[in-house]
Amino acid sequence: MILQIRVVARHDTSGLKTFATCRCSYLEGWLRENRVSSQWWTSSTPEKYNTCIPNAMTLSRRQNNRNQKHIMGAAQSVEPVDLKGKVAIITGANTGIGLITAKEIAKMGAHVIVASRDPERSLAAVEKLKEESGSQQIEFLQLDLASFASVRDFAKAFHEKNLPLHILVNNAGVMALPQRQTTKDGLEMQMGINHFGHFLLTNLLLDDLKKSAPSRIVNVSSEGHKMAKMNLEDINCEKPGSYGPWRVYGNSKLSNILFAMQLQKQFDQEKVDVSAWSLHPGTIRTELGRNLEGITGYLNRTIGPLFLKTPEQGALTSIFCAVRPEALQSRGKYMSNCREAGTWHANEELAEKLWKLSEDITGLKG
Ligand SMILES: NC(=O)c1ccc[n+]([C@@H]2O[C@H](COP(=O)([O-])OP(=O)(O)OC[C@H]3O[C@@H](n4cnc5c(N)ncnc54)[C@H](OP(=O)(O)O)[C@@H]3O)[C@@H](O)[C@H]2O)c1
Repeated sequence: MILQIRVVARHDTSGLKTFATCRCSYLEGWLRENRVSSQWWTSSTPEKYNTCIPNAMTLSRRQNNRNQKHIMGAAQSVEPVDLKGKVAIITGANTGIGLITAKEIAKMGAHVIVASRDPERSLAAVEKLKEESGSQQIEFLQLDLASFASVRDFAKAFHEKNLPLHILVNNAGVMALPQRQTTKDGLEMQMGINHFGHFLLTNLLLDDLKKSAPSRIVNVSSEGHKMAKMNLEDINCEKPGSYGPWRVYGNSKLSNILFAMQLQKQFDQEKVDVSAWSLHPGTIRTELGRNLEGITGYLNRTIGPLFLKTPEQGALTSIFCAVRPEALQSRGKYMSNCREAGTWHANEELAEKLWKLSEDITGLKG
């Protein structure tokens, strides 16, 4: 295998070529976010990675210092608002970006529901959240997005609590599973968890959000949506050879964007005060790379942490969309760094088609 690291200019679309060649999402994302200039290193053997990687890192650090102004220009904090009496559900809130989002929203006074799959990890997270936020209004409700039965059970359990719902953060996700895996319902796993599970969950909670309006839905997507090659005829990659870990991650993250667009369109048509966004959190040091193998996994474990932002920084845009009044100017939009950002492939026609397909697949229609 040949490892090539190319350091590229921020506004140069060849950033995506880097991804294809280097196959290291964290490095690529960091380089693009930090306007690093262009240079190549090539290595043909694992032993030589050791010279290749430090070379890239030296330049990256130099560029990092040079671009400090730009980094400082990124969102550093979100002004708190009073959320007393509000209720928020955050999926995947037991770790990473979701955990910090839950903590900050709880600190602002909201009743927070940690919607995650593993009881042991989730209950430990709830204890940590209570301690760090100073709020006791945090609870765990089990949700496995890889099972429609679990999503339905979650919605039922939430309804039994007779609570309003003001904020839904669709944050949970998996990235780049090396081999095609399937959910309990036989769907491709990345699409199943990242999109279809959240699509069903959101729809089962829509009446609650409408009744509690003004309310908000935040879909945590990714710049990785730019790798999408969506084939709605074979969305679950059933055709032989159709599965690609990154392409399918891209499809699932594009779906998060299309879903928010379509939700907003419907809310506007119905004239209900519910707002939806999708967003890129940044390139963040979390457990998301846990499934990466080969050179990508190697880079992720070794140099990845040096380039990545903290989960606190990663949660800023989610929190901004979930609580800030300024975010309402960008309803339905894809956000990054607490402001609107550009998307690839996202258009209204595709959003409508995906919605119909998702209704069929999740059994919402019929
Ligand atoms: N980190 C980044 O650089 C980055 C960049 C762009 C976008 N994102 C997006 O940010 C979101 C949060 O990711 P993260 O970086 O915080 O990753 P993370 O630390 O791996 O957290 C992912 C969360 O999703 C949960 N999850 C996974 N499968 C689930 C399932 N079947 N049912 C319910 N929950 C499930 C995980 O639960 P367990 O702990 O039980 O596995 C965990 O709580 C994801 O949507 C990701 O695509 C992250």
